[in-house]
Amino acid sequence: MEQNSGSTESVWLNSANFPPSDALTETECDVCIVGGGVAGLSCAYQLCQEGVSVILVDDGPLAGGETCRTTAHLSSVADDLFSEIERLHGKEGARITYESHAAAIDRIEEIVTIENIDCDFQRLDGYLFPADNMDDEAMREEYEAAVRAGFHDAQYPANTPLPSISSRPSIRFPRQAQFDMIKYLVGVAKAVQRDGGKLVTNQAVESVSEEDETAIIKLANGATVTARHAIVATNAPIVSLTIQVRQAPYRTYALSADIAPSAVPAALYWDTLDPYHYVRLQKGDTLKDGETDQIIIGGEDHKTGLADDAEARFEKLLEWARPRFPGIGAVRHKWSGQVMEPVDYVAFIGKVPGRSNIFLTTGDSGMGITHSTIAALLISDLIHGRDNPWAELYSPNRVTLKSLPTMLKENFTAVPRLGAQLTPGEIKCRDDLEPGSAAVIRHGRKKVGVYRDDAGAFHQVSATCTHLGCVVAWNPLEKSWDCPCHGSRFDVDGTVLNGPATTPLSREG
Ligand code: FES
Repeated sequence: MEQNSGSTESVWLNSANFPPSDALTETECDVCIVGGGVAGLSCAYQLCQEGVSVILVDDGPLAGGETCRTTAHLSSVADDLFSEIERLHGKEGARITYESHAAAIDRIEEIVTIENIDCDFQRLDGYLFPADNMDDEAMREEYEAAVRAGFHDAQYPANTPLPSISSRPSIRFPRQAQFDMIKYLVGVAKAVQRDGGKLVTNQAVESVSEEDETAIIKLANGATVTARHAIVATNAPIVSLTIQVRQAPYRTYALSADIAPSAVPAALYWDTLDPYHYVRLQKGDTLKDGETDQIIIGGEDHKTGLADDAEARFEKLLEWARPRFPGIGAVRHKWSGQVMEPVDYVAFIGKVPGRSNIFLTTGDSGMGITHSTIAALLISDLIHGRDNPWAELYSPNRVTLKSLPTMLKENFTAVPRLGAQLTPGEIKCRDDLEPGSAAVIRHGRKKVGVYRDDAGAFHQVSATCTHLGCVVAWNPLEKSWDCPCHGSRFDVDGTVLNGPATTPLSREG
């Protein structure tokens, strides 16, 4: 039976397994972390291990944002290709990319062992196989770049386990991994609380600033937390325009389907398309699906807000996967998530430009789990004044001139979305909307986002993003208003779902 999960939080997230929220009884700490996804929780765990007092604040449940939408590939292979990282950041940059992501997987494995977390952690091979856009010579160049980056036991040419996946030479990368992300984070969250960390959920943060060596975190409920340091771990950062314009939001799609046990050997698989397809297998019992295993297929990304054809994209995923992975059966879940793509392919992890005590981690580029673990190790070192060889590569202050054309191209999206303030609405009259649909309508000089729910009631909000004023677009799968410019997302009632915006869309009529 096919199940379209629509808004996808419920697919993976069982909030009941997480420890309940702490009350905000103390408002002073060493480090205040904003964001309770994998990045925030990983940082909290690392800091608590080092005896640092931590308060973590999230506007929803733990892991309730992009984290619960991950497909949980743990890879030390640069998803934007080692050859591209080397072109933009040199051989040393590519080497650190591999070293840091490999260290992140090792660290996750270590935490799983130390904390005895039952999360199906499994080491396995990864296979990069060529799409039509990549000839054998380019594959060899990518393999050689991987070896230069330190991946000495990468294998090329290698055969994927099934010729149907690819009959052409592929690259095999050993020591990749997969796990159940939510089970892992439940264990991490419990360890944080055990070690004195406070996890405060369902409390929105309005601003993060600093004054006289103190970080000041203001909450929407009027409370203020003061800390020696703050870490902004909100997927899209709610601070620093400098960083917000150096990454672009993309929506990615994923589905899980039944597959006969052992029909496809367990491994991570991905191709060389841009955007690329990615696949892994999951034992059925983890998903409570009885006897079948699950195959998880992802890809078909597009720039946020610039497409509304989710169903067609799910169909394309299946069309791509069925001839390659035999025995795919009923689709169980469909979902989507948003990834932030840095213009030079490397995440931003470190001190916020121009600030002394505020750190951020963002720009996951589809590698959010390993980037988050890198952030935990790196930011902890920076806070403690320890040298870290990864600091320069990930520095939010870095300048990568070679990425300037990409940055200009990505930011061109903002021009038409700002100009959209002047254009007519998508439809003339809200009564033309079918139940369950939405459109941007012109009301005098204003653009208004109108959603008509299944019962026929209208929900109207300003269509002007409260971050920098672009016009938002309707996301029919997630039923949200998404901003193509820097990735802010809003619920049908205007509530902020994703930064960088921190102010809701105003209600209209
Ligand atoms: Fe920047 Fe909307 S997210 S204008």
